[in-house]
Amino acid sequence: MEKFVITGGTPLKGEVTISGAKNAVVAILPATILAEDVCRIENIPNISDVSAMINILNIMGAQIKYINKNTIEIDTRHINSYVVEHELSKQLRASYYLIGALLGRFNHAEVAMPGGCYLGVRPIDQHIKGFEALGATTRIENGMVKVEAESLHGARIYFDNVSVGATINVMLAATFAEGRTVMENVAKEPHVVDVANFLNSMGARIRGAGMDVIRIEGVRKLHGSDYAVIPDQIEAGTFMAMAAATHGDILVRNVIPKHLECISLKLREIGCEVRSYDDAVRVIAPEKLLPTRVRTYPYPGFPTDMQPQTVVVLALAGGSSVVRETIFENRFKYVDELKRMGADVTVESNTAFVHGVKGLSGADVVAPDLRAGAALVIAALSAEGVSGVDKIEYIQRGYEDFDQKIRGLGGRITCVKNPRDERKAMLRYAQ
Ligand code: UD1
Repeated sequence: MEKFVITGGTPLKGEVTISGAKNAVVAILPATILAEDVCRIENIPNISDVSAMINILNIMGAQIKYINKNTIEIDTRHINSYVVEHELSKQLRASYYLIGALLGRFNHAEVAMPGGCYLGVRPIDQHIKGFEALGATTRIENGMVKVEAESLHGARIYFDNVSVGATINVMLAATFAEGRTVMENVAKEPHVVDVANFLNSMGARIRGAGMDVIRIEGVRKLHGSDYAVIPDQIEAGTFMAMAAATHGDILVRNVIPKHLECISLKLREIGCEVRSYDDAVRVIAPEKLLPTRVRTYPYPGFPTDMQPQTVVVLALAGGSSVVRETIFENRFKYVDELKRMGADVTVESNTAFVHGVKGLSGADVVAPDLRAGAALVIAALSAEGVSGVDKIEYIQRGYEDFDQKIRGLGGRITCVKNPRDERKAMLRYAQ
């Protein structure tokens, strides 16, 4: 099992280039099932969630050709199965998008309940509500979600809560539904818009993605497309938080600054200078970070996927901050690990009370999930001394070449595979 060994205490400085958005690509890949044709997708991040999705599509009969590390051609003409077993589906949360895509193409999908990071209960009732409104019936049997319809028809759907997954999944299924579908109380995240743009590039008729109401006119057929995935908002935000926590100065390239506004504004409140360019942002950290209040909220609110990284920054601020998590009930599991590094954080229900300390100190910690894992890496980079971050397979789900990018900024991080390498890594930066 791999782990990161990190010698902290150095400000991170320089430039980093952001990869394609994980949460867009894990929906765009299943969406190619609807094309029944050849699609070329660029700016695909080289992360394990993407490999898992490509592997599932391959096993289902899609032909995949790598043009280079970040571009693939995918031919979904020969997919002839609508069943995805548990062994495959458990590998990632986004396997739920296979339900919408297979239902759209075959009027039938049988997909095992999805896996992914444990952040709480993570129900899929709103996905099912949408599929049923389109005319499907749903059964959950032996851990399989079985959805089928004679035919799908347009419908008016009001989601009871804002869900990224349900919005995208129902959009996938409704692409071929006869007539008009109107979806209300939808998620507006940049990746929702990106998936809609991809579907439209294949001939779908989806209007309003990114706004309050999405309208879809069903079409009979799609065609292949050439498409580039948008940059990853959360990867960019993670490096922005890294600049703040290490008192560094990082130019984050290949981003859409508009998507980062909620993060930039919060970092400014914390005392950072954030400069926006056409496709880059630069974060210059102050000597003294300031405390603030954070409340996670669906886009354009502050992203729940940036909550752990922000708590690390605030753990180093001069004063007390309050961070309220409103999306997932179990997203503070990393706090105990952070305390091992000397952070002063107390969690009561969905709120973290963060009392800034002068500095953190290196410790051995375990990543409990993807974003919390990235947050612990940030904490280790800011801490005095050596840290080990275990279970980095969570981090590799969502960050392409994370350690390599951090080394490019002067971070002293090594990915080790066994205890002997671990000792070497510790000695490497000891002088
Ligand atoms: C997606 C992202 C994840 C991000 C989250 C919120 C992917 C693969 N994952 O997760 O990184 O943290 O959005 O931005 O894109 N809910 C229900 N019923 C449902 C669906 C959701 O009650 O049918 C609830 C959830 O428990 C949660 C909230 O709605 O409290 C938002 O969840 P949702 O936006 O669906 O998150 P995911 O799609 O799982």
